[in-house]
Amino acid sequence: MLLEKFYIRGGKPLTGTVTIGGAKNAVVAIMPAALLADESCTIDNLPYIDDVITLADILEEVGAKVSLSTKGRITIDGSTVTDHKAPYDMVKRMRASYYLLGVLLGKFGKAEIPLPGGCEIGARPIDQHIKGFEALGAKVEIEHGIVRAEAKRLIGNEIYLDVVSVGATINIMLAAVKAEGLTTIVNAAKEPHVVDVANFLNCMGAKVKGAGTDTIRIKGVDKLSGCEYTIIPDQIEAGTFMIAAAATNGDVIVANVIPKHLESVTAKLLEMGIEVIEGDDYVRVKGISKPRKVNIKTLPYPGFPTDLQQPISVLCSIAEGTSIIHESLFDHRFRHVEELSRMGAKIKVEDRVAIFEGVDGLTGALVSATDLRAGAALIIAGLVAEGVTEVDNIHFIDRGYERIERKLAGLNADIKRLDDGQSLLKAVSSNVSLIK
Ligand code: UD1
Repeated sequence: MLLEKFYIRGGKPLTGTVTIGGAKNAVVAIMPAALLADESCTIDNLPYIDDVITLADILEEVGAKVSLSTKGRITIDGSTVTDHKAPYDMVKRMRASYYLLGVLLGKFGKAEIPLPGGCEIGARPIDQHIKGFEALGAKVEIEHGIVRAEAKRLIGNEIYLDVVSVGATINIMLAAVKAEGLTTIVNAAKEPHVVDVANFLNCMGAKVKGAGTDTIRIKGVDKLSGCEYTIIPDQIEAGTFMIAAAATNGDVIVANVIPKHLESVTAKLLEMGIEVIEGDDYVRVKGISKPRKVNIKTLPYPGFPTDLQQPISVLCSIAEGTSIIHESLFDHRFRHVEELSRMGAKIKVEDRVAIFEGVDGLTGALVSATDLRAGAALIIAGLVAEGVTEVDNIHFIDRGYERIERKLAGLNADIKRLDDGQSLLKAVSSNVSLIK
């Protein structure tokens, strides 16, 4: 793996317009879902992120014909898939490969997948996925890190989720679309990407109703056909840019979004005194010199997303007074705090609560991304900070953000991607802008 870094010279407000790409968390479910059809599916508004590339490789590995164009489009033909097993070395690279369990179980009545990898943000059990498959009649066992699921015939059932889980809701939908009879998921996740996956399945001929509410009903069908589908905009990428605009006291139009999906972020920015103007398909964020303190608790949609908890913690670090963030979904999602502290933030973490004593500013430092959204937070911190910040481990960031440095440079940020061997000091000592 190429070890690259971001070098950021902070202190410049972000200005201009940024266009948001397709939703990562939708595409990582929709791409495997395409295997359920007996014909090829074309998916548009595809983000070019590492998770998409990895997933395209995994789908090819199980026998699908995949064609990835440079115009944000992928065509997937699942009719050639014969293998119900996915390769360990690829699956371990991305957590969302667990969607192959639901897909292959739904397609062949059996699936064999290594337990997934992904971001280290705490224990991420899949007991609710398994509970769902078992309720549909599958026998599931985990042995030596491999999940094996098998059923003679999947039969619809009512499944109550003990926790609101995006992954379990989607995985059960994927397994149930071709099951016999009616499946009902109660206490389902309501995230926009859950709705997007349901819309995609319906576009292939499935009968899924109620996605976006806490009860989803799936009437099994015998056959799914090919379709063309456009992925929704990425709510988390959009939120990241909204927060970056606010934190740098900038003025940014975040375009190609569904403002409704951003309501929880908008609400918190407004509480902090930041101006947010909503258009039909954009939001404009205008910062202020000293944001007000805020209290945030992460919750399933439509609550404040855990994926934006780390980015918004930068804003809390420089806000007036004491802000509090309660992370209620994952237990190790404050690993970025140590890095922010090295940049001058005053943060105390107690269990799943972080307390921020607002400081006047941050200073550039060498910092390391510990996971995808932690990486996004450190970039924002670098944009805010005085001096130069170096962020390493940026392969985490590339998993979920398409060339984030190009989008930021388009907003007037001084940010550059450098190889591991390139020198921070050289960049610091040059008087010219990092962007050429
Ligand atoms: C998805 C998102 C991730 C986001 C998270 C919460 C994708 C690819 N990833 O992850 O970006 O941070 O939703 O919005 O869409 N849980 C269980 N048992 C299970 C499943 C989950 O106890 O079987 C718990 C988890 O530990 C967590 C909570 O449920 O506390 C929510 O997790 P879940 O919604 O499943 O997250 P992911 O689907 O892994």
